[in-house]
Amino acid sequence: LQGLHVVVSAGGTREYLDPVRFLGNRSSGKQGVALAQRAAARGAHVTLVAANLEVPIPVGVDVVRVETSEQMLVAMSDAAPTGDIVVMAAAVADYAPVASAPEKIKKSGVAPIVELRETTDILAHLSARRRPGQTVVGFAAETGDATGTVLEHGLAKLARKGCDALVVNDVRGDRAFGSDDNEVTIVSASGQIHVSRRPKDQIADAIWDALLAQRQQ
Ligand code: CTP
Repeated sequence: LQGLHVVVSAGGTREYLDPVRFLGNRSSGKQGVALAQRAAARGAHVTLVAANLEVPIPVGVDVVRVETSEQMLVAMSDAAPTGDIVVMAAAVADYAPVASAPEKIKKSGVAPIVELRETTDILAHLSARRRPGQTVVGFAAETGDATGTVLEHGLAKLARKGCDALVVNDVRGDRAFGSDDNEVTIVSASGQIHVSRRPKDQIADAIWDALLAQRQQ
């Protein structure tokens, strides 16, 4: 990865209802941080866009801290244009509250109804603005359901998002969240690479190897 600028988002966004409450998700940021850390160790210039990480920020990377999906969109849009490889490993909320109260919402005896709006799909946004020679990569957490398997959903998502590769995580039964290891399938136009269960830093190396191989095709 020597000489390459990689931009990685990690963690999970928080969408605020008021100054003390938010809609969040279970992403710890471990896999995204492992990607950033391994890329830096392999000689890349790394920009890590970090959303509410549960793990320490690795040394040797440039960090932009964000909390919300809107801040993530701004930070990624700023960093991505100079990136050779851009990876959306963060869990971005698909929906955010229409209104965020400036003061704490007090208990009133009537349960509030929260209206949500769709957030910008940052991965699709970055894919649509990809420059020649740039590789844009997404993650997909899938459980599989009546309409398709984990892999089928991953392939459909690769097409829908318009990115170059998708790292598909099987999240059935707590397999990935917060864990120190992971099992993924890297899906792209050049095929599928399954990486069996191993520590997240080794998964990160396998992802970088697959992306470098794809860039050389
Ligand atoms: N993502 C993003 N912006 C969003 C939501 C998701 O960039 N507002 C990115 C994530 O960082 C990840 C990928 O999209 O790389 C995962 O998408 P996901 O939310 O699983 O896809 P959806 O299109 O919402 O599909 P699903 O119906 O499975 O939720």
